Amino acid sequence: MPGLITMDDLTNEEIISLLDDAERLLPVARGNQYLPLLQGKILGNLFFEPSTRTRMSFETAMKRLGGDVVNLGDVKNSSVVKGETLFDTIQMVDGYTDIIAMRHPRQGAAQYACDSATVPILNGGDGAGNHPTQTMLDLFTIRQAHGTLENLNIVLAGDLRYGRTVHSLSQALTRFGCEVTFASPSSLSMPQEIISDLRSEGAKITETDDLLSHISTADVIYMTRIQKERFPDESEYAKVAGAYKLHARDLADAKAEMIVMHPLPRVNEIDPTVDKTRHARYFEQAFNGVVARMALMCWLLGVTIPSDIKSDGGGV
Ligand code: CP
Repeated sequence: MPGLITMDDLTNEEIISLLDDAERLLPVARGNQYLPLLQGKILGNLFFEPSTRTRMSFETAMKRLGGDVVNLGDVKNSSVVKGETLFDTIQMVDGYTDIIAMRHPRQGAAQYACDSATVPILNGGDGAGNHPTQTMLDLFTIRQAHGTLENLNIVLAGDLRYGRTVHSLSQALTRFGCEVTFASPSSLSMPQEIISDLRSEGAKITETDDLLSHISTADVIYMTRIQKERFPDESEYAKVAGAYKLHARDLADAKAEMIVMHPLPRVNEIDPTVDKTRHARYFEQAFNGVVARMALMCWLLGVTIPSDIKSDGGGV
């Protein structure tokens, strides 16, 4: 069954078409129009790791489109604690639902689920692997700000080793000809196999540990949290915690249209002084998760988005 496990599951044309669908759905996501395109459909939310945005925006997306949601809920209250395997859990939820959004601490778990499911699986994050639905909302946010995905200068900063959002995003951005700068402490650099793959496809990549010197040329600065939960040793985390913190004063020479993004939650990577600048875009970015996931669920369930949804005047 088709699903979305990595960005390789989408062509560039499909990405653009899904972003166009997402844009048309903005009035529905804002609650200004009711469009029950997914009435009668049930989403299964299977989150084996904590989540606020991914889980709740999937749920909002399904409900705004007239569908319903069942949740695994807290793993501690599920039969996982009795020893049920992921394979068996998927067999059950496959029968209860029409589509599944899943997050799991193990890299590759979403592909494993997809291989045995009869309903589409949307990977909401698999360990330090991928987070493609996040990438779709990130691309939506970038296109919203710059009107294009092509040939932009993007800085991805922070924990590039364990941060799954930047793994998926860098793969997508380079396919659109973006120049990508990876800014991280050396112990948290982008995995070399990802760099090699990107370079072999002709991607323009720079690696640095100096975030500040790349701010003035950037169209997007994408900050990420140091993924404490993925460190095998807490003392290693302590060495890099707080490695980068962006303040409003750091943005003095930034281009006027440069945007600061973050998949959230932030811990201390972005000082609240940035929130008040014209560059801050992370809260709108999180909202865009609703339209991006609406478009993805409609696409995977074979539901066409009408082309004549009336604008609510709220803009893109
Ligand atoms: N961006 C993101 O994945 O946030 P959550 O962990 O809250 O879902």
